[in-house]
Amino acid sequence: MKLRLLALLLVSIVISPLASFADEGMWLPMLISKYNYADMQKLGLKLTPEQIYSVNQDCLKDAIVALDHGGCTGSVISAKGLLITNHHCGFDAIAKQSSVDHDYLTDGFWAMRPEEELPLPGKTVSFLIRMEDVTQAVLAGIADTLNEEGRAEKIQAATDSITTSVKGDTGFEVSIESMFAGNEYYLFVYQTFSDIRMVGAPPSGIGKFGGETDNWMWPRHTGDFCLLRVYSAADGNPAKYAKENIPLSPKKFLSISLAGVHEGDFAMILGYPGSTDRFLTSYGINQKLEQLNPSDILLKTVKMDIMKRYMNQSDALRIAYAGDYAYLANFQKKSIQESKALTRLNVYDDKKKLEDEFEAWVNLDSKRIEKYGKVLSSLKNIYDQKMADRADEAQNYIMETVMGVQVLNFAYGANEFATVLAENDSVAEAVADFRGRAKEFYQNYDLRVDREILLKMLTLYFKNLPEEYRPEIFDLIKKKFDNDINRYADYLYSKSLFATPEKFEAFLSNPSLKKLEKDPAFKAVNQIVASYILTRFIQMSYDEDFSKARRLFIAGLQEMNPGKAYYPDANSTMRLTYGQVKSYEPADAVEYDYQTTGLGIIQKDDQSNDEFRVPAKLKELFDAKDFGRYAEIGVLPVCFLTTHDITGGNSGSPVMNAKGELIGVAFDGNSEAMSSDIKYDVNLQHTIAVDIRYVLFVIDKYAGASYLVDEMQIGGNGN
Ligand code: ARG
Repeated sequence: MKLRLLALLLVSIVISPLASFADEGMWLPMLISKYNYADMQKLGLKLTPEQIYSVNQDCLKDAIVALDHGGCTGSVISAKGLLITNHHCGFDAIAKQSSVDHDYLTDGFWAMRPEEELPLPGKTVSFLIRMEDVTQAVLAGIADTLNEEGRAEKIQAATDSITTSVKGDTGFEVSIESMFAGNEYYLFVYQTFSDIRMVGAPPSGIGKFGGETDNWMWPRHTGDFCLLRVYSAADGNPAKYAKENIPLSPKKFLSISLAGVHEGDFAMILGYPGSTDRFLTSYGINQKLEQLNPSDILLKTVKMDIMKRYMNQSDALRIAYAGDYAYLANFQKKSIQESKALTRLNVYDDKKKLEDEFEAWVNLDSKRIEKYGKVLSSLKNIYDQKMADRADEAQNYIMETVMGVQVLNFAYGANEFATVLAENDSVAEAVADFRGRAKEFYQNYDLRVDREILLKMLTLYFKNLPEEYRPEIFDLIKKKFDNDINRYADYLYSKSLFATPEKFEAFLSNPSLKKLEKDPAFKAVNQIVASYILTRFIQMSYDEDFSKARRLFIAGLQEMNPGKAYYPDANSTMRLTYGQVKSYEPADAVEYDYQTTGLGIIQKDDQSNDEFRVPAKLKELFDAKDFGRYAEIGVLPVCFLTTHDITGGNSGSPVMNAKGELIGVAFDGNSEAMSSDIKYDVNLQHTIAVDIRYVLFVIDKYAGASYLVDEMQIGGNGN
């Protein structure tokens, strides 16, 4: 490993001053030739840069989509708009379509005919048409001396005018995103489709096999995939759901290779990583370790414990809370592992070292001192303030209270309705709209669960945060309820019009602004939001200094290392990461193979544990060794590891081989390197993908949906 790195380092210095390292980096696809191509070729890539990203020819990027504007990634795998993404990306939709009678979470769902595909209201799929560096146009005429407010205004005006003119009447979505904290700007043009249907999802015993226990872990045996289909109007353009819409005929779809993966193979991923903070300073890491992660973990753990207790009581509650619980569990574990990894990998010390180097470099030159001399001290000051005022931490509490207490979250949505009532305009439409939202809301709501969560959240809020962040409700709790939050919760859930669907319907059938304004949940949420605004005001007192210091820090680092290729932090725009199929050593004397197989599924089988309950039919297929063409020397591959640099949002991204064929679907990272949003660890960071052969085996042999496999273009059989 060390040797290989050294070799790469030498090569990169000799051949190209801007060559990048493999593995690390979420690269902008339009810059492949400049930064990555030489390196990718060396690793084995068989394509030209234009076959990956081009605006002039159909290329791989045309087969890659952002789901829900960047929540997850997917790829097109047939000429009929078939999409593959992760089971956990479709999980909410699957849960929403489920009930106790047809429990698609437990049993899976397979459409055997087009008519059986399930429309998924609200789901969107966006194709990237093109991207462009618009830094010069956006920053034109902005002097270094301009203050931050003036700068932000000019940037806003420039981006507005560019996006408006590019958008024209194309129907495309156009956005301009800041890169490197405002040092560069890129334009993105998308075409978004909104008639998306569920085609197939394995049962949780496959798609979520290993549950929360295995989440973020290797060795892994999860078939974390599901299939969707994009529909268009008859002319191929995006259209709202309509029965007569037709399957999308895509510009490009990925063909699939059954040739499998081997240690050292080149592989790459195109996808939509959501956010990283790779330029975070040591001060920021300190805040994360001391305040942000501990509060996040505490609040999520408390909520999860309550939910789990109820979910264990009935199938209805299990289904109702499945989506919320999975979300909390995923990010709670991520925060726990992130803190551990940051500490274990000494990321703070690394950052400190970099900052010391930066300071020494700045101090060598008076011009640098003028431009960058205050950057680090300013960042330090801001973080000192943040640690003292705890506004960022308070926001964790406020968000978990507002977003995590369903009745408050739902009541918050009534603010718009209040305006409608006040203006007495289009009330009937607003009532119909609210009624629709209520139907969805109450499906996954249980008063007992919610009441308990409110009680615990407010109790922690009261106990742990400085008094200044306490919303007004605490005055009421003191005066009227003798500081007994339990009694306050009783009051809120017995009196609020949002507390039960019946009360809410009674309100809607005779809506009155007065009643709404007096409602305890409506009042509570708006008071908590007022506390949020207070935290924003506190942050705003250093926002400008902060954005300036961050921008200059990054610019300075780039100036300090002119031979290094930098990639911007993830921001839900399309990125390329490339590397190799690779095993790793998570700890002393432990070696992890790069591949898992069906054998491991049987070894983990535990019918008494819902996280590890292997479906009977899967076991039968394993017993019969009925693997069809999907096995390699009689063994069914399940998941594999690569060195790719991904994060949340990349879920569902295609893992492609040197020829751009689909070999797997990325779905997770490994806990040992969970500091990865802040620093890529070259020895530890891996992507976990489900092998496409396991996916096809499940579709074909398990579900018997071979018509879907027939739709795909499959090659590389055993070569
Ligand atoms: N850890 C994965 C990610 O954030 C999500 C996995 C979802 N599965 C689960 N068991 N919660 O990308």
